[in-house]
Amino acid sequence: MGIEKRKGQHIEAVLREEVEYTASAGFEQIRLKHEALPQGDYAKVELHTRFLGKKAFPLMIVAITGGFAGALQINRALAETAEKYLFPMGLGSMRPMLEGVEEESFLIRKHCPSIPLVGNVGVAQLATYPVERIEALVSKAELDGMAVHLNPLQELLQIEGDREFSGSLEKIAELCDSLSVPVIVKETGAGIGGATARELKGAGVDWIDVSGAGGTSWSKVEYARGGTPPGFEEWGNPTAECIKECKGVLPLIGSGGVRSGIDAIKAIALGAEIAGAARPFLLAHDYGKLDEMASEWVEQMKIAAFLCGCTNHSQLKNIECTFV
Ligand SMILES: Cc1cc2nc3c(=O)[nH]c(=O)nc-3n(C[C@H](O)[C@H](O)[C@H](O)COP(=O)(O)O)c2cc1C
Repeated sequence: MGIEKRKGQHIEAVLREEVEYTASAGFEQIRLKHEALPQGDYAKVELHTRFLGKKAFPLMIVAITGGFAGALQINRALAETAEKYLFPMGLGSMRPMLEGVEEESFLIRKHCPSIPLVGNVGVAQLATYPVERIEALVSKAELDGMAVHLNPLQELLQIEGDREFSGSLEKIAELCDSLSVPVIVKETGAGIGGATARELKGAGVDWIDVSGAGGTSWSKVEYARGGTPPGFEEWGNPTAECIKECKGVLPLIGSGGVRSGIDAIKAIALGAEIAGAARPFLLAHDYGKLDEMASEWVEQMKIAAFLCGCTNHSQLKNIECTFV
């Protein structure tokens, strides 16, 4: 099946089918210490931080799409919302651009001139394309960083998936050595554990997006498209556990099952620098409620921060988390 058709099917499955994990990302097991006597003025809560050299609100629209008819409209809407709220944004896999299938949907910088914009390639593409081709994506799409996605669960269940993973770490190290922008390694919803995070650090990776289990299940997405064998619906490391394991190894993005601004603050309190989400943004776009969702999550994050006694981003790390 062609890559354009597959991309379209993924969006349809994620929007119309039951593709979320039944098991949770673990955020409901975390209670943040409530502060009954918060200091300061709520109106002055300012959670912005720096990410990839730019000012950013600590909520990222992580990789969703690109490369098929309809993707430009989605990416443009996401980019405009990201620009309005200063959310960092990730593009979906740029393999269609590498293969010369489609590129317009990735060239959205004009709609989000101020934000950290992150490209995306699969680790398998690093074996096929030399670093100069990845560098060309950076300059053409005007990117601030490049994400390399790891998705072995999806590949092994997908009919047309990659089966050869040898040498991945070496390829990532080569990319980190020569690319002009920071490299983020991300999972796609099954999570990155502590030992892998340390290997990635050794390879020169700059950031990790743990993208753990508890949100979009890529095994369920592939099952909706006919993938086999069954049984891996709930496979993966929950996001809260991934953040705890990877904390202190590299700076973290906490995505995978973040389903509110309160979850986002929990991800940051646990050890991520910024939180991220994919499917909730895609659903909100589909319902015509992207701006409503974005402003609601920002408000939830600011209220949760204030109720924990924080008025800025650096204080979020000191919030006391209890596992209940
Ligand atoms: C429709 C859709 C397409 C995605 N495509 C990509 C992709 O191309 N590259 C990637 O790294 N991750 C991709 N992801 C994975 C997300 O970036 C994220 O890691 C995962 O969905 C978990 O976050 P969530 O639970 O908030 O959806 C995609 C997610 C969705 C929902």
